[in-house]
Amino acid sequence: MWDFTSPRKVIFGEDALEYLSEQSFKRVFIVTDPLMRKLHLHLLEDQLNAINAEITVFDEIEGEPTLQIVQKGAKLLAEAKPDAIIALGGGSVMDSAKGMWPIWASPEDGMDAIEGLDPFGKINLREKTGSILINIPTTSGTGSDVTWATVLTDNSSETERKASFGNRELVADITILDPILTKTLPRHLIAGTGLDAISHAIGGYLSTWRNDFSDAFLIHAFKLMWENISLAYNQAETGEVNFEIREKLHNAATMSGWGFGNSQIVLGHALGHSIGAAFKIAHSKCIGTTCWYSLMYNKNAEPNRIADLARAIGMKGKSDEELTEKLILGLKNLLLELDLPLSLEEMGVTKEKYDSEIEAVIEYALNDSGTLSNPRPVDYEDYVKIFEYLYIGKELDF
Ligand SMILES: NC(=O)c1ccc[n+]([C@@H]2O[C@H](COP(=O)([O-])OP(=O)(O)OC[C@H]3O[C@@H](n4cnc5c(N)ncnc54)[C@H](O)[C@@H]3O)[C@@H](O)[C@H]2O)c1
Ligand SMILES: [Fe+2]
Repeated sequence: MWDFTSPRKVIFGEDALEYLSEQSFKRVFIVTDPLMRKLHLHLLEDQLNAINAEITVFDEIEGEPTLQIVQKGAKLLAEAKPDAIIALGGGSVMDSAKGMWPIWASPEDGMDAIEGLDPFGKINLREKTGSILINIPTTSGTGSDVTWATVLTDNSSETERKASFGNRELVADITILDPILTKTLPRHLIAGTGLDAISHAIGGYLSTWRNDFSDAFLIHAFKLMWENISLAYNQAETGEVNFEIREKLHNAATMSGWGFGNSQIVLGHALGHSIGAAFKIAHSKCIGTTCWYSLMYNKNAEPNRIADLARAIGMKGKSDEELTEKLILGLKNLLLELDLPLSLEEMGVTKEKYDSEIEAVIEYALNDSGTLSNPRPVDYEDYVKIFEYLYIGKELDF
């Protein structure tokens, strides 16, 4: 038996934020970060003031959020007792809100309320708190607005660990996709977060947990993202914002999250999570690169599936193998076009730092769920080689 878990509603397109003023919330708790507070919070306040909702704002979220900040937010959340939690921001903000909610619901469990989550267990979040979760993403990438996972960093020990926790009940009730929020995205974030969505689409499509439902979302998300990302990136250089293109990217990121959230991620994310935590590299900066490595590593395991993806974006070839090679090259060229790095060296990791952390990084990657659901098995020796190649940006030949 399997299930496909979704939010109750996805509100999308121009003026989607107006949905908030059609609700009857009494108290809302907004989780956000300092920049989003400055740039976009007023748009939500306008809508919520129209229904006289009492608003509490927690704006202390930083990139790649920690268990510690989530714990702090959960305390304030419990005091505010809102009937709606609203996450306004990128994956870091949405993951934080998803982390705070179970701690509020089960204070007696302390941090185990999040660290001990069973993906399929019943935790009765809505019944215990009387609240719902509304996600309003401001980056077009993570898909965290519709997934049941929260990725949090534990910095309490020497080597930081980034771990995924989750439960089906963490899938938001409502996701609001208003492209206006993405007009302030700088180019490098359009590129990096877009590659995160591409990597979810590819990973979810190749994962051993894939299914007919996730396939449908992932193939279309991949096509939408691939066809529009360079346009948005190039326009952003001149400050131009084409909302039709931005809407496609925003929708694609959520569809990609919907798909991989009901399938899994693969090697690309196991690599991305492990180097992200150990070398403090933002997810959006490294995930496109590690996705490229994942495609190279998996090319012989799944040539027909990779060829499906290539065909979806109009690539032509005489065989699945030829299409697979074309997609691998196409992805490398996309990374170059979007000024994304091709190696750990280019990401600024010194050899000294690499040598001191690599054993911990490999252990981390081996335990990541992306290793478990990767179509081609990956063991310790494989990781040693993959990381050696990734460090200098050498293409895989094994
Ligand atoms: N839960 C999941 O399913 C899932 C999936 C993928 C990634 N993640 C996690 O999400 C986090 C990354 O999220 P992210 O890539 O969205 O970045 P982010 O949330 O960390 O934001 C990055 C930066 O972009 C800024 N920003 C956000 N929206 C903006 C906008 N509209 N205009 C200008 N600046 C904006 C933020 O203020 C921040 O400084 C990582 O921790 C990653 O592990 C989670
Ligand atoms: Fe991701």
